[in-house]
Amino acid sequence: MKDLRIAVVPGDGIGVEVTREACAVLEKVATAGGSKLALTPFDWSADAYLKTGVSMPKDGLKMLSENFDAILLGAMGDPRVPDNKHAVDILLGMRFGLDLYINHRPVRLLDAKLCPLKNAEPKDVDFVVFRENTEGLYVMMGGNFKKDTADEVATDIDLNTRKGVERIIRHAFEFAKTTGRKKVVMSDKANVLIHAHDLWQRVFKQVKAEYPDIVATHLYVDNLALQLVRDPKQFEVIVTSNMFGDIVTDIAAGLQGGLGMAASGNIHPGKVSLFEPVHGSSPPIAGKNIANPIGAIATAALMLDHLGWKEESARIDAATAGAVSAGETTVDIGGKLGTREAAAAILGRLA
Ligand code: NAD
Ligand code: IPM
Ligand code: MN
Repeated sequence: MKDLRIAVVPGDGIGVEVTREACAVLEKVATAGGSKLALTPFDWSADAYLKTGVSMPKDGLKMLSENFDAILLGAMGDPRVPDNKHAVDILLGMRFGLDLYINHRPVRLLDAKLCPLKNAEPKDVDFVVFRENTEGLYVMMGGNFKKDTADEVATDIDLNTRKGVERIIRHAFEFAKTTGRKKVVMSDKANVLIHAHDLWQRVFKQVKAEYPDIVATHLYVDNLALQLVRDPKQFEVIVTSNMFGDIVTDIAAGLQGGLGMAASGNIHPGKVSLFEPVHGSSPPIAGKNIANPIGAIATAALMLDHLGWKEESARIDAATAGAVSAGETTVDIGGKLGTREAAAAILGRLA
């Protein structure tokens, strides 16, 4: 196991509060088998942007790649920056600039009482969504014509490359194969997006032929949305495009107990990767010690697992599951505690 150097970007709103707790958890497991973990904070946020006009230093991405093993981010987004400029520069800037093409979003129900579905148990909600993370509708290509007139035209381009589609689909199959999973579902809207999502269909067909032991099926994304809430136990691995992955992982977060529970990693194998909870900065509840820290703590555990600190990662997950079963949680998942106290319940189980 190696020493870990983690860049920490708390960001905005509840991002700051939940990242503080995720860091406390990391500090608690910071030594493993003689290796050490160091956390270095970066104040890249709406506050800093509004003060200085700079969202992220020019050499920011280079600095992250050269000096860190991973980045832990809270959330970006602030109503005082209505065009979301700093979030685009920082969050999407890292996803695109570091070519983090795998958005890995595990979906696990820790306790039956958290699931809004009748009779669903933890074994029924246990799958992973791989969301393409570097293209699709997120490339911000397009434009306006005759803006602010009655004849205005507005476009956003859904950009899909063979390389981009192939590497995320291949990763989904490789993940299934190496983790003993047997099923991969690819989801698109090829019945309407007859060019871009036909590419997804053709690439899926080609890649699945290389994995004869895996049951590879397809669902249109509208049907996927239904199946996720009707019968989530049918899923093991889902792979989909950037925008659809964004939406279905909020639905999937609902199955886990809400956005406060959901973790994610933005990964390029072998390169510095970015870990962040699925939720945003939640301005209405920010600064009130209300936000659920579990999404951020589970994200820290996912990061450690990715970096090879498997035992420490499992210890964090077990401590979290213990606090959840004891009901020592925040209000959004039925507890009575604040952010700090809910994190303390997890920290206490890590002794
Ligand atoms: P949001 O995730 O902030 O909130 C959606 C809902 O979930 C709200 O009701 C909120 O209170 C609840 N929620 C989210 N996280 C929670 C937690 N940890 N504990 C308890 N409740 C929680 O999404 P939004 O309101 O659509 O967006 C707010 C801002 O965050 C926007 O600026 C958006 O662009 C940004 N955003 C950023 C990220 C990110 O940085 N990765 C992700 C999503 C949204
Ligand atoms: C997410 C968020 C981001 C996205 C926003 C903040 C750009 O919703 O990480 O899920 O759409 O990817
Ligand atoms: Mn989202």
